[in-house]
Amino acid sequence: MAQINPSILSADFARLADEAEAVRGADWLHVDVMDNHFVPNLTLGVPVVESLARATDTPLDCHLMIEQPDRWAPQYVEAGAGSVTFHVEAAAAPVRLAREIRAKGARAAMALRPATPIEPYEDLLPELDMVLIMTVEPGFGGQAFLDIMLPKIRRTRQLIDKHGLDLWLQVDGGVAASTIELCAEAGADVFVAGSAVYGAADPAEAVRALRARAEAASADAWWACKH
Ligand code: DX5
Ligand code: ZN
Repeated sequence: MAQINPSILSADFARLADEAEAVRGADWLHVDVMDNHFVPNLTLGVPVVESLARATDTPLDCHLMIEQPDRWAPQYVEAGAGSVTFHVEAAAAPVRLAREIRAKGARAAMALRPATPIEPYEDLLPELDMVLIMTVEPGFGGQAFLDIMLPKIRRTRQLIDKHGLDLWLQVDGGVAASTIELCAEAGADVFVAGSAVYGAADPAEAVRALRARAEAASADAWWACKH
């Protein structure tokens, strides 16, 4: 099943509870945490996640684009996130961190910037609930989809299948009606969309339309018969 996670980076930060409500029916709400060090942008932190978790029933998918995730990620679980994603480029001890996130009760996910290959992390995959392949350089919404990431999505799906893992494969950046099918065909099953959802006249309808496209594209994909 394709999951659609609207990114509130493209929402109105002064009206987050309403913006969560505007995408009712979405699988998760994607929360981009940026610290102005790991990426050149600054967004929100633990107190906002705490408030948002209280304000919506939709589970929170926190994408931490921050330095020292080993130190901060557990606090996002305590704040109410159902899934916490750290960047492997910033993590000092990714296995220990993934285990800690899981032990605290959230799904653990590892993100890769566009220039980071998946192959060195093959042995870590059983420690994770999701891998995030960035399809833009992290930092900003509204950037153009990097189609040169499609082979990495395919290779990641092959590794997941090779090890028989129940691991979600998320894509984030430039995911829209024109690109979601390429991602689904390549092996992604969780789709973050910021501007394509919040830039639409009816965000909830945009979520449904994206999901329908992804479902149709993955139904006959090379990897989907096993799922
Ligand atoms: C970018 C963020 C994304 C961003 C996606 O660094 O991680 O989640 O919100 O926005 P769009 O879908 O507009 O590319
Ligand atoms: Zn993100």
